[in-house]
Amino acid sequence: MATAIERFDERARRTFESLGRTVVYVGELRRHPVYTRFLHWMVALFFFLALFSGFGIYLPWLFRWFTPIFGGGPLARALHPWFGIFFVFFFGLQILNWLKPMMWTPADTNWMRNLRGIVSGKEKLEPPDTGFFNAGQKLQFWEIVIGCIVFLITGIILWAGARTFGSSLVAISYVLHDVSAIVMLGGIFVHIYLSTIGEPGTFQAMTRGAVSEPWAWTFHPAWYREVTGLDPRESYEKAREETDRAATQSPSESKLKSK
Ligand code: HEM
Repeated sequence: MATAIERFDERARRTFESLGRTVVYVGELRRHPVYTRFLHWMVALFFFLALFSGFGIYLPWLFRWFTPIFGGGPLARALHPWFGIFFVFFFGLQILNWLKPMMWTPADTNWMRNLRGIVSGKEKLEPPDTGFFNAGQKLQFWEIVIGCIVFLITGIILWAGARTFGSSLVAISYVLHDVSAIVMLGGIFVHIYLSTIGEPGTFQAMTRGAVSEPWAWTFHPAWYREVTGLDPRESYEKAREETDRAATQSPSESKLKSK
């Protein structure tokens, strides 16, 4: 039986699908629906607005040049908590949307054990049981969940101030708020690198909502098997043989074949 969260997500996905489009060409697989993409880019937008307005408050002598973007220092200070609230709100919806695929499984423990081989690039394909999200993505997701909780609690304390919560709680909140921002920022740098140049073909998952089949069998073999019913290793070997054959063919041979 579907839970209330699943029913809510299903309704939201259906509504957003009628507002946008996901075009999947031959040789591609559908990855993220319009609703997921909308939430992701809202999260990213409010994350960076909160970050940049926060920099202006945190280190004004270094980031003074940021504050005019927000209409000056006092306005940046007034807007920052609202950017934070919208960031947490949209990520909260994304938590509901991704709760199921982000659950930790034995395949993730296996992925962590193989981390060295994966990072070094020795293995051409990720471990065969890697599903829709890998363990690295899940860890980052849960780090952001914890970060959102820390931001929300400490942010409210800082917003209300020492008169409501006392100066020691405000001082502790400053430290936790800033540490959380630095940890999340570090993770986001890695995330942006991997989603663009680190793992080519990933970016389109969050723009067009579709990925190529080679991307799927390389980075998420178990998901590829689940949606196509094909063996990822066999698909990879077949594609490699075809590429090798095309590369060894003489130009005249390939011209004749193409006629
Ligand atoms: C301009 C910056 C960003 C780019 C280019 C980007 C790109 C992407 C892409 C392409 C995916 C899909 C990965 C897949 O399907 O496997 C993704 C997923 C995700 N993004 Fe972003 N993103 C950005 C900013 C952010 C920010 C600011 C946050 C949160 C603070 C965030 C949180 C996530 C999470 C939790 C996922 C799912 C797990 C993962 O793939 O790591 N992203 N992003």
